[in-house]
This record gives sequence, C-alpha cells and structure tokens, in this order.
Amino acid sequence: MNKQIVKYRNEILANDTSGHSIDHINRVVKLSQKILETEPTADIEIVQIAANVHDVIDEKLVADVELARQDLRDFLTKQKLNENQVDQIFFTIDNMSYSKNLENHIELPIEGQIVQDADRLDAIGAIGIGRAFYYGGNKGSKIYDPKIKPRTEMDHDSYREQGTVINHFYEKLLLLKDQMNTTEGKRLAKIRHDFMLEFLDEFKKETR
Ligand code: ADP
Ligand code: NI
Repeated sequence: MNKQIVKYRNEILANDTSGHSIDHINRVVKLSQKILETEPTADIEIVQIAANVHDVIDEKLVADVELARQDLRDFLTKQKLNENQVDQIFFTIDNMSYSKNLENHIELPIEGQIVQDADRLDAIGAIGIGRAFYYGGNKGSKIYDPKIKPRTEMDHDSYREQGTVINHFYEKLLLLKDQMNTTEGKRLAKIRHDFMLEFLDEFKKETR
C-alpha cells in the first residue's frame, strides 16, 4: 500500500467523530481487497486509492469542499496518476454515496462498484449497528421512539433530517442488501443483513 496515500487520508480524517474515522477507511480498504480477489477485471491500483480517499472530500468532513477537491487532485497527480485515472477516482467518490443515489441510480465502473460495496458493507452487520448508534449519539438522536414512524420516501435533503437510530435501519440499512453490485458483496451483505434482523428482533422483545 502506498504510504503517502495512507498519510494523506489520515491527516484529513484524524479528528472525525461522524463515523468516517480512519478505522472505517481501513475496513473499507480491507473489504475492497477481499471483493477485488473475485473481480479479476478490476484495476487494483484504482480500487486501493479510491477506497483510501473515498471520504476525504465529503461535506461532512471538510470545511471547504472545493479546496479539498483541488488538494486531492494535486495529490493524486503527484502520485503519478494520469488525468484519466484521476477523473475515474473522482467519478467514483463523487457518486458512490447512498444519499447521491436516492433520487436516481448512478452506474459506476467496476472499480467504483467494489469500493461502493465495501463502504456499504461497513454500514451493515455488527459494525453497522455500532456505527448507527455512534452517529445517532453524535447528532443527539433518540435510540427509539414508537411515536416516530420510519420515513418511506426520502430525498437528499430529508435524508439528513433527524430521526431515531432504530428507524435508520428501516430507512436505509435494511435496504442496502438489495443494492449491492458484486457477487461477493451480495454474499457478505446477506450475512450482515441477517445479523441486523436478529438484533432488531431482540431489540423489539426487550422494548415491548
Ligand atoms: P454516505 O457516505 O453513504 O452518505 P453517511 O455519511 O450517511 O453515508 O453514513 C455514515 C454512517 O452513519 C453510516 O454507518 C450510517 O449508517 C450512519 N448514519 C447516517 N445517518 C444516520 C442516522 N440518521 N441515524 C443513525 N446512523 C446514521
Ligand atoms: Ni465511507
């Protein structure tokens, strides 16, 4: 793994408390690697770099998105990537997020599909449960409130409105399994999905 890329994203993500910390990136890099082994046509270098930098220009993480974009472009160019490769990485990280795909589905190249699957896998299963409560705590959301119903129709803006952590499972996390791109991503998502169902089942029993 390119040491400079790790150093670059570590500096940007070091102080994050929104659930996009370095450990999230490390898991996405590792999961991308695992999926990559089953997708021989994908470009390894593009996948690795995109996985590492996928959150560094996120509006939730950087104060000035335009400045962050320029900085990333300069950085990638210095890593001896040509313009085409840099554009490909930008296309993926610009279009892979869940909120970007709420209104219409954006088709990504195989490299982007792998990183998107890895990012989604890190939002579900045991880790996903942990991250949802962590995010909810950070935003001051309630764990659960039977009076607040899960939203069924969401667009980019309403996605960021406050709900409860348990509703987030019904509004997003349980929907991810059917949006996976790769065969390996689908397989891993099913295992994590079933674990969330088990968790929700037990949660219901305990709160009845
Ligand atoms: P994306 O980068 O796809 O837009 P987010 O930044 O929305 O993803 O999500 C980051 C993490 O925070 C994920 O694990 C997600 O499930 C969690 N999260 C996002 N919104 C909420 C919410 N309203 N309640 C609980 N967890 C949330
Ligand atoms: Ni991410």
